[in-house]
Amino acid sequence: MTRLRGLVVIGLVGLGCAPAEPAWVWSLPPGFPTPLVPADNPMRPAAVEAGRLLFFDKRLSANETVSCASCHRPEHAFSDPRRRSVGLWGDEHPLSAPSLANVAYVARLGWATPEVTSLEQQARAPLFGEGAPIAEMGLDTPALRAEALARLRADSRYRALFERLEPGLGASFDFDDVIRAIASFERTLLSGTSSMDRALRGEVTAVSNAAMRGRRLFNEHVEGSVCHHCHNGLTLAVGSRFEGMAFDETVYVNVGLYNLGGTGAYPPGAEGLVRATGSREDVGKFRVPTMRNVAKTAPYMHDGSVETLAEVMAIYQRGGRLIESGPLAGDGKLNPLKDRGLGGMTLSKEQTADLLAYLESLTDEAFLNDPRFQNPFPEEASFGP
Ligand code: HEC
Ligand code: HEC
Repeated sequence: MTRLRGLVVIGLVGLGCAPAEPAWVWSLPPGFPTPLVPADNPMRPAAVEAGRLLFFDKRLSANETVSCASCHRPEHAFSDPRRRSVGLWGDEHPLSAPSLANVAYVARLGWATPEVTSLEQQARAPLFGEGAPIAEMGLDTPALRAEALARLRADSRYRALFERLEPGLGASFDFDDVIRAIASFERTLLSGTSSMDRALRGEVTAVSNAAMRGRRLFNEHVEGSVCHHCHNGLTLAVGSRFEGMAFDETVYVNVGLYNLGGTGAYPPGAEGLVRATGSREDVGKFRVPTMRNVAKTAPYMHDGSVETLAEVMAIYQRGGRLIESGPLAGDGKLNPLKDRGLGGMTLSKEQTADLLAYLESLTDEAFLNDPRFQNPFPEEASFGP
């Protein structure tokens, strides 16, 4: 009897302990594989929740004016509607902020930074300026980081969430924990319920006939070019990575946007893969961007220099962009480093309209309006984009 009572007491003590934070349960769009997650950053609900707050928290920049969401806006599929993103001191980024939809599957992050292979590594660019051309959030000294950390630790919401991840962490979390949480949130940004996805899953009225015709053109053959060669697979971009994937095949391509002085040169500051490889043939090469939600991610291309999808189509149709005058003058069609597959196309008006209808059918309204991805504290000035 005494022994039994002892057991009961032990049992109750066990129940009294804080329950371990449960594992994350993915809610993957139909047909989507499980994203790869680093061994030292398992997905957990409290981490995702903290990451969401942090993503929208301006206190994470040196002067408390810029959050990740300032340049990655939910209603634009987490891209920036400005042509160029602007950092906390007002500097313009030479590149356009890409969409973060399905970023969990991106094997090599950035327009032309093949060395960046994890979201944890990537976050150090905007936060600390590591490898970044401008100060985005400006925490580039240990003192500024300590100040930002003190601001976050003063907020009981962060203390409670990090405490759930590990006893004691609520009072002692540091930037590694902050970055891991942000990355966990980013991995939940999955978009796979566009009108076209729904149509392909049997909801035949979800898209127009024009969009269906455009899809065939995109995937099979557009006079002179096959869009699908580069924009394909799960993310409609080359180079996905997920569980069970043997290797990544990230592709960087020069689509002939510039040809400064007829030499194939691109504008300084945004010269492409050459920055990483030092190889001249890599001038003007950028990673193939996703087509998902593309109607919401204007302006287009690595530097946001193309305003509309119709203009993008005109550039592919011509086989490169002609800039007639000014410091960027040159005929991209004649760029010696342009991809050979992009020789121009002869599309009818109807075909062009069909392709545009297809691109528009890739908008995922459920993703754009998902309450889990919105600004968590719209009433607080310190949060929000
Ligand atoms: C000042 C604007 C700005 C801020 C603030 C900002 N970003 Fe970005 N982000 C960019 C730009 C511009 C790029 C493209 C950089 C490149 O390609 O080299 C980018 C690229 C990325 C990418 C790569 C996406 C891909 O598909 O390659 C990720 C991920 C990302 N940002 C996450 C974040 C996170 C997380 C934060 C906050 C810690 C953040 N960003 C803050 C502008 C910003
Ligand atoms: C040989 C590879 C390749 C082919 C083929 C190709 N693209 Fe692209 N596409 C790219 C690359 C690379 C970029 C980004 C280029 C840059 O920013 O300099 C891009 C950019 C785009 C963009 C802008 C997206 C954004 O977020 O900025 C759209 C839209 C697009 N392509 C549509 C198409 C269509 C439609 C076709 C078929 C007519 C096509 N692409 C064929 C490689 C390709």
